[in-house]
Amino acid sequence: MGRQKRKQMKPRRLSKRKTEADRADQHDLYQKSVQAPEADIEFFTKVFEAQRGRAPLRMREDFCGTAYFSTEWCKSDPKRTAVGVDLSAETLQWGREHNLAEAPDDVRARVELIEGDVRSAHDVAPAELTCAMNFSFCVFKTRAELLEYFRAARAGLVEDGVFFCELYGGMEAIQEVEDHREVEGFTYIWQQARYNPIDHSTLCHIHFEFEDGSEIRKAFTYDWRLWTIPELRELMLEAGFREVRVYWEEVEDEEDSDPNTDELTGTGEYVEVTEVENQESWLVYIAAFV
Ligand SMILES: C[S@@+](CC[C@H](N)C(=O)[O-])C[C@H]1O[C@@H](n2cnc3c(N)ncnc32)[C@H](O)[C@@H]1O
Repeated sequence: MGRQKRKQMKPRRLSKRKTEADRADQHDLYQKSVQAPEADIEFFTKVFEAQRGRAPLRMREDFCGTAYFSTEWCKSDPKRTAVGVDLSAETLQWGREHNLAEAPDDVRARVELIEGDVRSAHDVAPAELTCAMNFSFCVFKTRAELLEYFRAARAGLVEDGVFFCELYGGMEAIQEVEDHREVEGFTYIWQQARYNPIDHSTLCHIHFEFEDGSEIRKAFTYDWRLWTIPELRELMLEAGFREVRVYWEEVEDEEDSDPNTDELTGTGEYVEVTEVENQESWLVYIAAFV
């Protein structure tokens, strides 16, 4: 008797129940995890008003992605307008269909989105304030590229305009670490996967984990150069800005900080500094004044 032919296995029906990861929207998770436009807007307005004696109205958001910041900017004052620039048509479209679609008509009418390179000249009215959030300029890995970007940012500003960006650093920034943080029903994970001391390139990923055990690995990946504050200052001055200031987060007094960790607790208030104590990790705002 010949060998009995094995029954063809019926393809297993995949469970119809979608996991939390299946149902999640990566742009929505990103916005909830790493963007806080209201706090940024309050800080930028405070610095601009102190230096220029008026509130800024016209804002340009470079690397705007989903234009979350631009939308919130226009919501913050009916006289405010925004232009957002980003290379990704897909991300801009998500922003139109979500952030802008959900905004009141008058807000939507004051946000203009441009699909293009932040280093190119765009045919838009100059901004009083330009911002580049979440370290996006670190995509430029050479001095020449970053200088070209800062020149373009400078050229897109009015004659007393201000450029704001953020930078992170510290001893921990060059270590291969994973940082987990609980956000509204999911875990946000920032992974520093690689750092090369020869050229300061760093490869970082954002992952998300959910309560049902599902996850989205490498939802976003960044191949960056980790710049230093003095390098940015020098390039900004070379690009034609007159003055550069660094704003560092104040920390709670030691008795108010968590006694179970060595970590200092930030107050959320940023102050201008020229000298600070070294820290494991830090995040600063840098302002360049035309
Ligand atoms: C880290 S995300 C920033 C998203 C958001 N604006 C934020 O503050 O979190 C970087 C964005 O920069 C865009 N980008 C990268 N290189 C660019 C370039 N040369 N010109 C314009 N946009 C660029 C990407 O498409 C992406 O949307």
